[in-house]
Amino acid sequence: MLGDACPEELLDAGERLSVDELRSRQLSLLQATISTAYEKVPHYRKALDEAGFAPGDLRELSDLSRLPFTGKKDLRDNYPFGMFAVPQSEVARVHASSGTTGRPTVVGYTKQDIDTWADLMARSIRAAGGRAGDICHVAYGYGLFTGGLGAHYGAERLGCTVVPVSGGMTERQVDLIRDFGARIIMVTPSYFLAIIDEMERRGLDPHDTQLRIGIFGAEPWTEQMRTEVEQRTGMHAVDIYGLSEVMGPGVAQECVESKDGLHIWEDHFYPEIIDPVTGEVLPDGSEGELVFTTLTKQAFPVIRYRTRDLTRLLPGTARPGMRRMEKITGRTDDMMIVRGVNVFPTQIEEQILLVEGLTPHYLCVLTRPGRMDELTVQVEAAPDLTDRATAAAVLSRRIKDRVGVTATVEILDPHALERSLGKAKRIKDNR
Ligand code: DLL
Repeated sequence: MLGDACPEELLDAGERLSVDELRSRQLSLLQATISTAYEKVPHYRKALDEAGFAPGDLRELSDLSRLPFTGKKDLRDNYPFGMFAVPQSEVARVHASSGTTGRPTVVGYTKQDIDTWADLMARSIRAAGGRAGDICHVAYGYGLFTGGLGAHYGAERLGCTVVPVSGGMTERQVDLIRDFGARIIMVTPSYFLAIIDEMERRGLDPHDTQLRIGIFGAEPWTEQMRTEVEQRTGMHAVDIYGLSEVMGPGVAQECVESKDGLHIWEDHFYPEIIDPVTGEVLPDGSEGELVFTTLTKQAFPVIRYRTRDLTRLLPGTARPGMRRMEKITGRTDDMMIVRGVNVFPTQIEEQILLVEGLTPHYLCVLTRPGRMDELTVQVEAAPDLTDRATAAAVLSRRIKDRVGVTATVEILDPHALERSLGKAKRIKDNR
């Protein structure tokens, strides 16, 4: 099921650039970003000096590959404001991402950065099929997380009526969707499942709401999940990607008319794919780790930031100038190595959703009872599942045949697993 293409006249100037126009713009923006970072951020000056690279050495886009990477550790080492390229008095807002260990990483925005972000989020919501005048329900968390406020400012910029609900209080989410008649919802896909479960529990068919577009991101989700959500609701489910270190949501967005991966807003972010082990740049089409350099950010420029996210770069379609990234398969740090086989939770999710009677609520539990790793997949049954043993056997066989690992499958009662209000936790490592 595909949606209507955005009329040409609604696209903004950046979206209409040809590949050639884009490349020359990227080069001059990149040169400016590298010079500013070198002048204003001691970390970048030191890193470039150590690499023997002077800002003037960047003559073509491919020279970027000679620059050092930036990683989460560099941000932590410069906590809280050491990576900012403007004085604190010019920083209009900060956000932070908590991460699992240690200090949060702090990012900053000038007024102009916030403005650019709102423009790109408005562009993203429009690409998803949203229009001025739509009611937009924002259930991404508000606060230091970039999801809520990022979505909020973008929806306002587009001209939507914004309902700033944030995450949690699932019953109230359902009341507000029903009573206010939102056409768009912006939320993590896992939390959206909790919302539609709640609707169904109350006898409200999601098809009967006004919801038509779900803009889902902040965590990996699969094509199978798209099919499940679209069938259960009659909505368009489209993917949005971003990360705080680069901006927040709205770095890349899937277009509703093609649903074929996410167009990277390349007039603001320059993507590369690298081999995660050697750091070598890979040609478009190869799978590897996504790396971003910002082209227009003032307060917090990043050079070659390693996202840890795995994907491929593909040529543009609905926005021909801009390359697409395939749906994220997983993160390098989310990869489970089970008896030597690399497995991502998304691969398990794909198989679960192909088995009748199973739901997308699941958890991968890793243990090491003896010397060997064991993977147990806990998955909730649908309320009408009667033969659990057969469903477990079918899933276990599919995982063995398609993913290549042996997994014990435990079918749990509906609602047995804890629901996340934001990003879902898919791995529990008990080793
Ligand atoms: O999650 C920003 C965001 C908010 C994106 C709302 C989309 C919607 P962080 O908390 O810094 O920022 O986490 C960034 O989340 O490196 C990916 O691993 C993951 N991620 C974000 N979007 C997607 C997606 C926000 N569409 C990290 N698919 C990223 C898969 C995603 N993973």
